[in-house]
Amino acid sequence: MDDASSVAVAVAVISIAKLMIGWLMYGHKHRKYQHVGTVSSLRCYPVKSCQAVHTQQARATVLGLNLDGVTDRHWLITKYNGDFISQRQCPEMALISVSILGNDIQLDAPGMTSLTLPKNPPLNKSKVGRVRVWETRIEALHCGQEASDWVSKFLGIEGLQMGFFAPGLKVRDTSNEPKPWGFVALPGDLSAYSDFGAYLVTNEASLEDLNERLEKKVTMTNFRPNIVIKGCKAFDEDNWLEIRIGDKVYFRVQDPCTRCSLTTVDPEKGVKDPKMEPLATLKKFRGYPPYEVEGPCFGVNAAIDYPGNIQVGDPVYVLRK
Ligand SMILES: *[C@@H]1O[C@H](CO)[C@@H](O)[C@H](O)[C@H]1NC(C)=O
Repeated sequence: MDDASSVAVAVAVISIAKLMIGWLMYGHKHRKYQHVGTVSSLRCYPVKSCQAVHTQQARATVLGLNLDGVTDRHWLITKYNGDFISQRQCPEMALISVSILGNDIQLDAPGMTSLTLPKNPPLNKSKVGRVRVWETRIEALHCGQEASDWVSKFLGIEGLQMGFFAPGLKVRDTSNEPKPWGFVALPGDLSAYSDFGAYLVTNEASLEDLNERLEKKVTMTNFRPNIVIKGCKAFDEDNWLEIRIGDKVYFRVQDPCTRCSLTTVDPEKGVKDPKMEPLATLKKFRGYPPYEVEGPCFGVNAAIDYPGNIQVGDPVYVLRK
């Protein structure tokens, strides 16, 4: 071997060694899941902005938490023009409960007889329209006149409608929906009518931290999570990149969830807090610089990479940033 080739070989060997060391160090430092706690509660919201169905176990699918064939945020209530409504403008929506009964879902509200809707209404193309959730237009199957009359009567607004994200409708891929801080979803991160991510994950210790600063305590219901975790320290979720529940189900954290006036709705009374708590207090210590205008953060939006069954009590592991 001449000098030039020995140098080349040496350089190659050193480069490979560096790569391997780097890779091992990286793996050691970053690619390690740490056990942080357990799942303490699972909640599915079949109808956007109405009450949750609490469950001990559910199937975590790409489109959201699925319970007995009913998936998170697959129904929504809209104005006559298809624009979605929520507890932001109709806090009384907090009083609409949803139950899953056999092949139906049932909506109940104070002073109303129950409204029963089929879980899987047949997809009739002539009843498909478009609804709008923020800036995104999404297809919806019209749920019929009885549902329209029921929600209009309870909420006291004429011409409301209900839509269902029926299988077979055009999928909504959130990877093309930018946030003020950029694109945070990957192609294949689907959603029906959630604001953004298919999952909202919160941490019990973060709620305790917030409650220590409040005169009137709030509950996790104010924050509408799908998955609640206990056992980790307050706001640990800010540092998470990935979340694994049990051995097989993997979530990818998309971004912090920026909160709005919906968190101020008293879940039992269906009215906003006159002092705008807990939002006002959250704003004091949970801003999202440089996007403070977007509201303070509580919980994280997440997408699923490996779907599967999860249950309350499952161990939770995270990969940190
Ligand atoms: C679909 O909806 C239209 C309009 O309401 C109705 O006339 C038609 O019978 C429906 N088709 C089926 C197969 O149910």
